[in-house]
Amino acid sequence: RGVALLATLSVLACAPTDGRPAHADEPPAVAGYRPGAAGIGDPDFPDDGNGGYDVSHYDLAVDYTPKTKQLEGQTTIQAAATQNLSSFNLDLAGYDVRKVTVDSAAARFRREGDELTVTPARPLGNRSRFTVKVVYGGRPKAAMDSANLGTYGFIPTSDGAFVASEPNGSKTWFPNNDHPADKATFDFAITVPAGLTAVSNGELQGRPTTTGGKTTYRWRERQPMATYLATATLGKFDLRQGRTPGGIPEYAAVDPKFKSSLDRLYTISGEVTDYWSTVFGPYPFSSTGGIIDDYMAGYALETQTKPLYGGFEPDATIVAHELAHQWFGDSLTLKRWKDLWLNEGFATYAEWLWQEHKGTKTAEAIFKELHARPADDPMWAYPPGRAKPSDLFNASVYTRGAMTLQALRDAIGDDTFFRLLRTWTADHRYGHVTTEQFIALAEQLSGKNLRPLFDAWLFQPRRPS
Ligand code: ARG
Ligand code: ZN
Repeated sequence: RGVALLATLSVLACAPTDGRPAHADEPPAVAGYRPGAAGIGDPDFPDDGNGGYDVSHYDLAVDYTPKTKQLEGQTTIQAAATQNLSSFNLDLAGYDVRKVTVDSAAARFRREGDELTVTPARPLGNRSRFTVKVVYGGRPKAAMDSANLGTYGFIPTSDGAFVASEPNGSKTWFPNNDHPADKATFDFAITVPAGLTAVSNGELQGRPTTTGGKTTYRWRERQPMATYLATATLGKFDLRQGRTPGGIPEYAAVDPKFKSSLDRLYTISGEVTDYWSTVFGPYPFSSTGGIIDDYMAGYALETQTKPLYGGFEPDATIVAHELAHQWFGDSLTLKRWKDLWLNEGFATYAEWLWQEHKGTKTAEAIFKELHARPADDPMWAYPPGRAKPSDLFNASVYTRGAMTLQALRDAIGDDTFFRLLRTWTADHRYGHVTTEQFIALAEQLSGKNLRPLFDAWLFQPRRPS
């Protein structure tokens, strides 16, 4: 499903002074220093992310009150300049920005649409490390795109919030560099009215602390994470903690409406995590698990370490999909959204591998049924190797993307195919990937010319023979 752009009115934080045109309050230009770009350079999503710096860590403090739907936040960002910077942008949708500092000194800022432009008191030299602190607050407004992506981002629910941000909704709850090409580690301190629970990525740090009727949950994600994978889903939850049979720390959390699903979610998620570790290579993160919230029936997202299931109890196949994403999407992350089949095609193929593992059906049989679809089926007109920004999550990206992997497996044989998957995840662990890199590795390991196969399956608007 898809989304158009948010039509947010801009707010100017500082008024021009002496009759010179807009932004005349900015310090005089210093030779050789330029503003960072307002986008990271993804041609399909030109406003997403930002240029001129690279984030290494986010420290998020978020205090949310479901009754008033008021969010008070403080985000501390550790970053390094990748050019001489006179100013730089963060992505933020909505909220009043109360204060911005860079390296503890007050910084000027202005708002325009979903861009927050920060001008530090002193320009930042290329490669210098700096710390940005943003204090902000207001009522969250989820991102909405009825044509394509639906509602996503920070979504208030009756007892809290459901937070799922793919592809660019994390700016609806904290200021950041909102594109997967810039990953960072995260610390979360989420404060909620006592009696509620906040669930984020990674591991719980100590016991939650309660003062003045409010409880703070501290979570830490120590491996790099794309901003769209961050969550702070909160409300009434039952939590189960332990380890998978293979020894990986695990957290499962369910809304009281799904109380009876807690043990099943916990058991299946542990079993799937352990199994994928034997197929795809070592599990990339420090914990696994899942969250079921009472919202958005049928929706799921591979939030890092804890996939989020909205309004339903997932069966093992869906858990297999979301946990396969921990390797394909979360550890190995897209540089550009057009390569989305590297996430969704692989996770869908993992569903087929799960069924093969369970003896229900082989991937080959599933492939054959799909290949028999008539030549005018819309899947054949949409080449999955080039996801369209106006129809990013088209079914072809999932299904025909998965079929591409079965066609590849047929061409190179099981031994090489599964060695390829494990080499792929090992070579790019915690990094970024492109379709071109995958094709090159497949050719290298198989010693075959696979260009015609990938071209027919990924890039042609017709059914491959
Ligand atoms: N990655 C999700 C999945 O595993 C889909 C997310 C779709 N995003 C959206 N805003 N609708 O299927
Ligand atoms: Zn998926």
